[in-house]
This record gives sequence, C-alpha cells and structure tokens, in this order.
Amino acid sequence: MMIGQGAEAIVTKTDATTVLKERIVKDYRHPVIDNALRKARTRREAKIFGKLAVMDFPAPRLKLMDDVNMRLTMDFINGPKLRDVFPTDNVRFSKELGRKVGVLHANDIVHGDLTTSNMILDNEIKFIDFGLSLISKKAEDKAVDLHLLDRALESKHHEVYSGSMLHVLEGYKEGNPAWQDVFNRLEKVQKRGRNKK
Ligand SMILES: Nc1ncnc2c1ncn2[C@@H]1O[C@H](COP(=O)(O)OP(=O)(O)O)[C@@H](O)[C@H]1O
Ligand SMILES: [Mg+2]
Repeated sequence: MMIGQGAEAIVTKTDATTVLKERIVKDYRHPVIDNALRKARTRREAKIFGKLAVMDFPAPRLKLMDDVNMRLTMDFINGPKLRDVFPTDNVRFSKELGRKVGVLHANDIVHGDLTTSNMILDNEIKFIDFGLSLISKKAEDKAVDLHLLDRALESKHHEVYSGSMLHVLEGYKEGNPAWQDVFNRLEKVQKRGRNKK
C-alpha cells in the first residue's frame, strides 16, 4: 500500500512493520546525473540511519539498503504526522522537537529538511526523511537547519508560530550543549535573510 509520495520518493508499506522508500527517476534530469543523485541520497540516508541507531535516536531503523534500485527498507512508524497534531499541544511538542534537533546537532547531524511533515508522533516525536542530511560540525550548517525549521513553522503553523519557535529554542538548549555558537550564527543567518528582502 502506498503511504507517501514526497518530492523524490514513493513510500510503500510492505508489511505491518516495514516500509519501502524508493527514489524515483526524475525525467527532467539528465539520466546520468539523476542516477548519481538518487544513489548518493540513498546511500547518505542509509549512513545517517546507521548513526541514528547507534545514538538510539527516535527514527526508523534501517533494514536494507539497495543502491542499485535506490531503495531503503525501514521500520514503519505508526502515527500521525506532527503537522496534523502540532497546534493542539504546541508548547510540549515544540520543546520536545527542539530538544531532539539539539541532540542531532550535538552529534553533528544536520537534518536538511526539518518540517513537521518529516516528524511522526508515535508515543514521542520520531524523525524521518534524512535524504538531504549532512554530517557537519559547523555552527553555520546547524544554524541554517534551525532557520529552515523556523521558516517552515511560520508558513505551516502561523497560528501558533511566534510562541512555538521560542519553545523550540528552549528545548534546543537542553539537547545541544554548544547551543550558544549555533544561536549566534542563527542571528547572522536571519540578518542575511532580512537583508535580501
Ligand atoms: N518510516 C516511515 N514510517 C511511516 N511513514 C513513513 C516512513 N517514511 C516515510 N513515511 C511516509 O512517507 C512520506 C514521504 O517520505 P519521506 O521520507 O518524507 O520522503 P520525501 O523525501 O519524498 O519527502 C512521509 O511524509 C510519511 O508520510
Ligand atoms: Mg518528506
């Protein structure tokens, strides 16, 4: 059964506990480039899932990687997307989400696509979709990750946005001991964004 179709992948539930994420061919890209890109993202996501397992981070566990057919098999996470429940209890969810982003960053994992559509509520918030993630120690990369989350919250959850980002940042401090460096960077990133306007 198909359960998700994002920008670049089709996700199918293959049994009670398993999903298959297959990166689909993009006809508008040159086939050689398309193949290289899908292979790189498949491998990258698999590598990050491996790191997340070692950290015991709340995310699906990888079962199989197939970088010929660009497929990942992983645990099915059962629950609503955070997007659909966020406004009901956004203070609690915001802190938890911020803390978990902090933990990722403290381990030098930058998610790359932090939106409430890439988080599933299953007793706790679990993160998915690490296809654009990178491993980086740079405060700049982490600040951009937070900035994109800020933008996503404002556009998808404008009714609760102003308070929720404050709680995200409060949670983040608990998750990442090096939060100060990242917050300093975030200010610069946001200034750049404003100057563009
Ligand atoms: N492990 C999983 N468990 C449950 N649902 C999933 C899982 N992985 C992906 N999905 C569903 O499939 C959708 C697309 O997957 P995602 O990894 O976000 O790919 P894309 O890069 O295409 O956005 C998700 O929004 C979610 O609904
Ligand atoms: Mg997604």
